[in-house]
Amino acid sequence: MRRLIFILPLLLFTTCKKQPTQPTGLVTENAMVVTARAEASKIGSDIMEKGGNAFDAMVATELALAVAYPYAGNLGGGGFMVYRKNNGEVGGIDYREKAPLSAHKDMYLDSLGNVISKMSTVGATAVGVPGTVAGVIAVHEKFGSLPLSDLIEPVIALARKGVIVTEKQLQRITHYKESFVEVNGDSTKFAQPFSVGDTIKYPKLAQTLTQILEKGRDGFYKGEVAEKLSSFIQEKGGFVTMADLEKYEAKWRDPIVFDYKELKMISMSPPSSGGVTINQIFKMMEPHDIGSFGHNSSKSIQLFTEAARRAYADRNYFLGDPDFVDIPFDVLLDDTYLEERMADFSFEKASLSSAIGHGEVEILESSETTHYSIVDDAGNAISATTTLNGGYGSKLYSEDLGFFLNNEMDDFSAKPGVPNMFGLIGAEANSIAPEKRMLSSMTPTIVEKEGKLYMVVGTPGGSTIITAVAQTILNVYEFNQSMQEAVNSPRFHHQWLPDHINFEPEGFSKELKDELKSKGYNIDEKRNPVIGKVDAIRVLENGKLEGGADRRGDDTAVGF
Ligand code: GLY
Repeated sequence: MRRLIFILPLLLFTTCKKQPTQPTGLVTENAMVVTARAEASKIGSDIMEKGGNAFDAMVATELALAVAYPYAGNLGGGGFMVYRKNNGEVGGIDYREKAPLSAHKDMYLDSLGNVISKMSTVGATAVGVPGTVAGVIAVHEKFGSLPLSDLIEPVIALARKGVIVTEKQLQRITHYKESFVEVNGDSTKFAQPFSVGDTIKYPKLAQTLTQILEKGRDGFYKGEVAEKLSSFIQEKGGFVTMADLEKYEAKWRDPIVFDYKELKMISMSPPSSGGVTINQIFKMMEPHDIGSFGHNSSKSIQLFTEAARRAYADRNYFLGDPDFVDIPFDVLLDDTYLEERMADFSFEKASLSSAIGHGEVEILESSETTHYSIVDDAGNAISATTTLNGGYGSKLYSEDLGFFLNNEMDDFSAKPGVPNMFGLIGAEANSIAPEKRMLSSMTPTIVEKEGKLYMVVGTPGGSTIITAVAQTILNVYEFNQSMQEAVNSPRFHHQWLPDHINFEPEGFSKELKDELKSKGYNIDEKRNPVIGKVDAIRVLENGKLEGGADRRGDDTAVGF
């Protein structure tokens, strides 16, 4: 009897763990798109309903986000996409921006070697060579099943019809209005006095999209659009030339693939740090049964934090554009190495980042960038994250072409040891060089369980992207949450330096924080930022799809 009393809770727990979690997000039979705006999700879903595959939907969704979500959706930025075809084949494409041909290591330093304020973050000097159009065209050429016109026409129609201003969008536009005026003058489109419910039309963007529809990649990187774009950037003091645009190429890259318990994860390889860092975090946690510690319990937060601390320290030192630097993948992802990294971890006491590295920096959180997830009715999956870097990028807006330009040059380490706008301290591996791609944190990820598609996930959030994606996967797999619950759940973040944990405003009690503090964890009490805005899809046991559209934004799942 005594033994039974002891075993019963364990049995109940194990049985509960095996119960399939009931969905709480949108459930559809066949296909789904989850993005930051309903308009973009619908365009992607409609493409698939008309017979297009997930890759066709990706082309249309990516471009539709440039219209419906100019905060991060873009033609003037770049991104990464990871795919898994229904036959299990996986791959990835890097359409990250790159440094212009005239770029050099010290381009953002003054004569005393100090970083020049704002030069890599605001205005034309911050702009890297955009990659988005090359990315979607390459995807279409390799995997598309419908003509480009079928994919771009609905996007052009949306640009002409316009997009309604939501409460959240108005807050963002208002927040950045001063910068729009500072960079572009007071007659700029986004300096107008908008109200919730207004419709913003994008006739100039529709014209640019028409050039892409008619001429494909050359409609953006050569001819009229390229001439206007390069002259505009240079007139404003920037560095991107016609030659830079002509030379830009998206690159197919093998994703980072690793096992975690019965899962197989497929995530983006460098120049995004996402895949390597998430691989390290999961592998450092794997020896522990985090599922039994309880969701967001002090023990699970400790374990996650210590793994993240060590993984971010490696990220910042070793990672950069693999075409320019040798990344020691075999060491960084080796089980023994990762075991050794955690050898001094104890649940009794926090490790010190100063013992792992050094530096004193401020983190500036951000929810910029945007992620979308797609699954088609044949089971092909797309996980794509795209960005202008900051909200509305460099704030430089081409009135003539109808889109914002990125400030992605800030993702390089302008000066090793000095933090970028996300508080990330970079090293030599991520220093600036002509045509080099800047290191990213974007973590578009696809998860298999027992050989079958299980989850498609990703998020914006700068340096917090990696931890938000990892926590969402843990929420579903280890803590039995539905996709929507996993996306909604409160998140926390640690990135090695600064050596403190950030918590979202709700969901973490004073008692929990006190317990962590008593073990030596520093908690940033001043700021409780929003961490990530995850858009994800889970494949249910019956084959249906559950969407997780983040409550933190206007994010919406659409499917059929
Ligand atoms: N610009 C944000 C990132 O690439 O991680």
